Amino acid sequence: MALRKIREMGDPILEKTCKEVKEMTPRTMDLIDDMFDTMYEACGVGLAAPQVGILKRIAVIDCGGEDGEGDPIVLINPVVLETSGEQRGQEGCLSVPGKCGIVTRPNYAKVKALNEEMEEIIVEGEELLARALLHEIEHLDGHLYVEKVEGPLLDVQPGEAEEIEDFDEE
Ligand code: NI
Repeated sequence: MALRKIREMGDPILEKTCKEVKEMTPRTMDLIDDMFDTMYEACGVGLAAPQVGILKRIAVIDCGGEDGEGDPIVLINPVVLETSGEQRGQEGCLSVPGKCGIVTRPNYAKVKALNEEMEEIIVEGEELLARALLHEIEHLDGHLYVEKVEGPLLDVQPGEAEEIEDFDEE
């Protein structure tokens, strides 16, 4: 297990557009493994490659299964195919530690991507998963959720989870 340093807001690498992944290499496999390790260690539900300083179109997500077992998803070169509905809720980001804010997003998202075998996959999600998919894909084009926050960025209250998992719309 290897943890990578999470870049924080203000780091110019978070504002860059990432490049498509053309082929899977041992180096890219290691990156994906490290991204999961880094995300789990930080108790996040998603992490994009630029957050660990790599400008590749790769994101990992795990919003957990219903039984709490985890549901790891690898997205390579993801493209949003469809969105619908609306959800309004608190959102956070591992690159903006200790903060959260209200963001309105579609309640449903359908995404096309490649998995770690470079096979095409379709990932569909509602609520937290839709939010995570859209949040992570925006990172690949240099965008942070803070651009969409309604009102001020808030401090995460002590005892509250630092990521978006506890914050779905009430
Ligand atoms: Ni983020």
